[in-house]
This record gives sequence, structure tokens and C-alpha cells, in this order.
Amino acid sequence: MDRIRIVGGHRLEGEIAISGAKNAALPLMIASLLTEEPLELENVPLLADVEQLIRILGNHGVDYTLTGRRAAACAKAAAYARTMRFEAAEIVNTIAPYDLVSRMRAGFWVIGPLLARMGEAEVSLPGGCAIGTRPVDFILDGLRALGAELAIESGYVHAGAPHGLRGAAYDFPKITVGGTHVMLMAASLAEGETVLTNAAAEPEVVNLAQCLQAMGAQISGAGTRTICIKGVKKLHGAKVKVIPDRIEAGTYAFAVAATGGNVLLRGAEARHLPAVLEALRQTGTQISEEADGLRISRAMAHLQPVNIETAAYPGFPTDLQAQFMGLMTRADGVSHITETIFENRFMHVQELARLGAQISLSGQTAEVRGVAELKGAQVMATDLRASVSLVIAGLMAEGETIVSRVYHLDRGFERLEEKLAACGAEIERLRG
Ligand code: UD1
Repeated sequence: MDRIRIVGGHRLEGEIAISGAKNAALPLMIASLLTEEPLELENVPLLADVEQLIRILGNHGVDYTLTGRRAAACAKAAAYARTMRFEAAEIVNTIAPYDLVSRMRAGFWVIGPLLARMGEAEVSLPGGCAIGTRPVDFILDGLRALGAELAIESGYVHAGAPHGLRGAAYDFPKITVGGTHVMLMAASLAEGETVLTNAAAEPEVVNLAQCLQAMGAQISGAGTRTICIKGVKKLHGAKVKVIPDRIEAGTYAFAVAATGGNVLLRGAEARHLPAVLEALRQTGTQISEEADGLRISRAMAHLQPVNIETAAYPGFPTDLQAQFMGLMTRADGVSHITETIFENRFMHVQELARLGAQISLSGQTAEVRGVAELKGAQVMATDLRASVSLVIAGLMAEGETIVSRVYHLDRGFERLEEKLAACGAEIERLRG
């Protein structure tokens, strides 16, 4: 299994091209199930999760082709852009089996378009990162509201809508990104109007709504808590661009703040990162918006401690909580980091402690006492976002850090070591 070796203490200088967002690419790819015509997606990142979803979609009969090239090293954003074409001319199978879906939670979302287009679906309950129980009860309740008949048997959801789905009002008991994606896709082909309240407003939801609109759906209010969808009989092909990855951008912004230096995050969008940039400014890091991205810089002054609490968008994203904690391990004082979205998302704490971080947990809040120095060590990635918090800490630590179980990182970060090395970090992948 691959590992990542880092020797800390180098400033980051240069440019990092931000890839397309994993969490936007996945629902857009799934939307291809809704039409028999091709859906062309630009700026798709090449990640393990994307490859896994290609396998899941392939099992349903979706053909896919890849165009565009991979760049040799960290270069302009355009060199990373890849276009993938998905064509679900015929759905050959409405079963999403355990061995495919159990590896990633988003695989479960195929239930929405399969049900809407085919009137039936049999989907294994999902997998994904081990960061909490992550139920799908609201997704199922929402589909029931649209008239689906559902039964859970032997780890599978059996869903049927023999007479098609019907538009309805559905109020999410809790904000859910995946739930909003599934309902948007299902309601687009339902008969009549659907009104979703307490919907997720994440930029990835807006990207999916734009994709569905380009395919002929009638949607208003995406990006707010209330979304209206007027169902149509058929959707058609379209060409849509995946938005830049705000989690990747935030991660590299924290890396620059961690090491000091000056880096342009090419393609990053400030409007997708309001709470993150506010927290970063409070640490004493400079951020400036430029025509082609965000410039992050920090002189070697002390890092100020900052308290954060994760929340649904536009709040501080849970997917950046671990990385921010990595940064705060070297702050000049005590910070408090509260996780409100997932109940078990602190597995990075014990690994950060191996590098000398001082963190104590009380319920859903971590108290981080900044230390003057971290020392390199062997650490283990436990989930996707935790893995990059260890990279950030490794970049600040004195000496060598080896991060194992890098496959977690490969699920969501495209060529991380190449991008950081091109900016002066001493980081490499050890294969095997
Ligand atoms: C998506 C993101 C993930 C991010 C999360 C929150 C993708 C592929 N993944 O995950 O990176 O961390 O949003 O921003 O886009 N819940 C229920 N019942 C449900 C659905 C959700 O109780 O039916 C709960 C979850 O357990 C969690 C909370 O709602 O506590 C939010 O989860 P949700 O927004 O659904 O996360 P995902 O869509 O799975």
C-alpha cells in the first residue's frame, strides 16, 4: 500500500491548480442515468471515488468515454481539465449491488434517478468514510413522499413506483446534501410540482441543479433552503462544467497558512468559501482575490488561534474541520473546534497527537493547545479528510512524517503530492 513521506519546514511558493469538485462530479455523473442522451461533464477530477462510480454506473448500462489529457506536473488549471461523457441509452440493470455501493456512500444516490426513470430500483445500503452512522432515512422518507413504495430486506432497499413518481412537498428534518441531490433528481422526472424545504444550499447542489436545468428540468431556488421542481416527462443530453473543489482549495489554503509562503490557488472561488476564508483571515493569513484565483500568503508571524464550529453551507464545512485542526496545532494559544454534522469525526486527533499535538476532546468539541513545535512521526490516515490534516501537520513538523493508508486520500485529492512538491514542499509518494 502506498505511503506519503513528508519532510516538514519548507515554505510553499508558487501556484496550485484546483481540480474539479469530487462532491459535485459524483451527483452530476449520477444524473446521467436520467436520460438516454449523452451527458458531457467538463473538469472532472480523476479520483478513486470517480472511478468507483464509473463502475457503479457501468453496471446499470452507462457507457463512458474520457477525453482530455493529464498534465505531467503542477501546471495551469486547463491542463487538468478532463471531459467525461456518460450515455445511459438503455438501463440494463436496476440493481446496485453491495460490493459496488458499499465502498462509497454517494453510490446509494442512484436510487433517485433509477426510480424516476425506470420505476424500480434495488440498491444496497451505502458505505463510505467511517465518520458516523450516516443513515439514509430522510432520503427514503423523501422518496416515499413522491409516492415510492420502499422495503428494506437483507441490506437492500427495494424501491418501486410502478405508476411513476408524483410531485409533493417534503420538509427535510435535517439538512442533507445527499438527500437534496436525490430528491432533485427524482422530482425532475416526477409528475407535477415538488417543493423541498430545509434543503441543502451547498455549491454542489447548485451545480447539480444547473446540470438538471441544462438537461431540461424546471428548477428554482437552488442555493436557498426552498427549492421548487416542476417535473417534466423527459430529460435530454447536455454539457456541464464541474465547479472547482472548495474543499481542496481550503485544504491548500490551510497548508500555505501552516508553512508560511505565498501561493495562488488557481481556479478557487472565494464565494464558495465564506466561513473558511473568514476563519483563515483571523489566523493572520492574507487572502486576496485575483482574476484567476485566490492568493494566500502568510509571513512567518505567529498563527492566531481561532474557534470554529462546523455547519451546513454557508457555515464552516465539516470536510475542512480536520485540516483546520491540523493548522491550529501550531497556533499561538488555545482554539476550540466543534463538530456538529457527524458524531464521530475526530479520528485524526490521536494521529495528530503522535506528531506532538496537544488536543483534548470533550463531547463534540476539541480543545487544541498550540505547541511551539511538532516532530515528524509515522501516522495513519483514518478517513479522507483526516488524511490531509496529517499532511498539513507533517508540512509543519520538524523531520520526517510518513502517512500510511493513503488510499483514503486518493479518494478525494488529485495528485496531492505533485501539487505540493511543485510549490517547494518536500513530499513524495512511496509506492507499494
Ligand atoms: C456530503 C458529502 C460529504 C460531506 C457531507 C456534509 C458527498 C459525496 N459527500 O455527504 O463529503 O461531509 O455532505 O457536508 O457529497 N443524515 C441523516 N439521514 C439521512 C441523510 C443524512 O440522518 O437520510 C445525516 C447524516 O448522518 C449527517 C447529516 O445528516 O449527520 C448530514 O449528512 P449529508 O449532508 O447527507 O451528507 P452526505 O450527503 O452523505
